Amino acid sequence: YDLYAVVGNPVAHSKSPFIHARFAEQMGERIEYRPLLAPVDGFEQTARSFIAVGGRGLNVTVPFKLEAHALAQRLSPRAAAAGAVNTLRFDADGIFGDNTDGVGLVRDIEVNLGVPLQGARILLLGAGGAARGAVLPLLERAPHGLTIVNRTAGKAEALVEQFGAAAREAGCALAGGGPDAVMPQPYDVIVNATAGSLDAALPECDARAFGAATLAYDMMYGAEPTVFMRHASAQGARVADGLGMLVEQAAESFFVWRGVRPDGTPVLAALRERLQ
Ligand code: ATR
Repeated sequence: YDLYAVVGNPVAHSKSPFIHARFAEQMGERIEYRPLLAPVDGFEQTARSFIAVGGRGLNVTVPFKLEAHALAQRLSPRAAAAGAVNTLRFDADGIFGDNTDGVGLVRDIEVNLGVPLQGARILLLGAGGAARGAVLPLLERAPHGLTIVNRTAGKAEALVEQFGAAAREAGCALAGGGPDAVMPQPYDVIVNATAGSLDAALPECDARAFGAATLAYDMMYGAEPTVFMRHASAQGARVADGLGMLVEQAAESFFVWRGVRPDGTPVLAALRERLQ
């Protein structure tokens, strides 16, 4: 068996061991995947010990994604752009860092939810780590426009600056700022990447951004719809939570490690059932 783990603090409630066990079954891959608790000040030591016992790869969750970025000797372009790493691979070439969160979001929206991003008008709420990780994968789908809006305008403006060249290359109009940068007409897709749902806070957003044809996507998930999803539903929008993104980022990590990409659909259905 090849050994993998998800490292975090806390990590006991991580769904990743369940997801990767299903993927391994599905693909006939002989892997063992465990939860790995690291002390908050002991990420690097924990990762190096894991490598020393033969570990082949790690998923990295809160609060270690920046430290994982620093630990990696090589980075994928999307991990470099995100400034954070959620997937480490250990092999003869050393420590490779990747970030599969953004692609997981894109795949959930396009494949699972059936909403094409090419040519779409996208509103991204938030400018923290979760938002930054989504920008490059979203731009790579060549949307018509991407507006990044954040409570603290300067952080959204910094992302617009950082991704200006990538947006030009994708032919995408990139803009951003504080809540007043939201256009007063329906977007095709609105992604909530703020940490707001954790404490049941709703990010400020013009109600006219939500229309009947809008997909309102919350990166958070739970047994009940999030406050953002309830708000978007009340405006008539279609809503989705981030459980599919969780499964799809895991599928992409599995691909980074094993070279084969599992089907997320049955695993998402099983997870959804367990959440109830
Ligand atoms: P993460 O890694 O989850 O993105 P983060 O980097 O701390 O976490 O970023 C949190 C994001 O949620 C930020 O965009 C933050 O806005 P600020 O930059 O203005 O702090 C946003 N956020 C958190 N609580 C919020 C709230 N109550 N309303 C609106 N935005 C909120």
